[in-house]
Amino acid sequence: MKLFADTAIINEIEEVSQWGIISGVTTNPSLIAKSGITLGDAIKKIVNLVDGPISAEVNEGKADDMLEEARVYAAMHKNIVVKIPMTLEGVKAVKQLTKEGIKTNVTLVFSVSQALMAASAGATYVSPFLGRLDDLTQTDDAGYKLVKDIKEMFKTYQFKTEIIAASIRHLEHVNQSIKAGADIATIPYKVLKEMVKHELTDKGLKIFAEASQK
Ligand code: E4P
Repeated sequence: MKLFADTAIINEIEEVSQWGIISGVTTNPSLIAKSGITLGDAIKKIVNLVDGPISAEVNEGKADDMLEEARVYAAMHKNIVVKIPMTLEGVKAVKQLTKEGIKTNVTLVFSVSQALMAASAGATYVSPFLGRLDDLTQTDDAGYKLVKDIKEMFKTYQFKTEIIAASIRHLEHVNQSIKAGADIATIPYKVLKEMVKHELTDKGLKIFAEASQK
């Protein structure tokens, strides 16, 4: 499973890109607002830090309006993936962008049927949201089951669309994404940093450090 950074904060992207294991970045309007810069400025900086798919989200609306915005972002850099919301207008826009050779990431996916519609339109990626689905259902595995079901459905019907597990809130969501067979997980900075940690690793390091001093 590939790891993407789910952030638009440039300092965070600078740091994680130096680890050498981040293959892409996803942004959304909330993350852009948090970053304090415009989406256009964020794109210009991020493309110089990570050489991989960078998702830039259009405003929800009529297909034609989303297409206009999508073409502007796509023209900025070859790695831009246009993030399109899961609506009927979004499906129409994805179909057209696919014809134009522009990559898309259909976002706000919460059901297998939504994923089927997005993939049928030719979406490059779909983003099922684990955290938000778990919140709604008040469970800790609804997001996991969704990713698993989409994976199975894509396999059955031989779709090439890749799954980006999104709305990752904690390490268990990362583990569930791996178990469910997500192609990619897009992970917030805080959780990315937690992934390297284990209490026994820390304990082991302490034991080895003490031994080497003897
Ligand atoms: C990424 O593509 C999504 O927009 C993001 O993971 C959503 O996360 P949230 O549910 O924590 O806002």
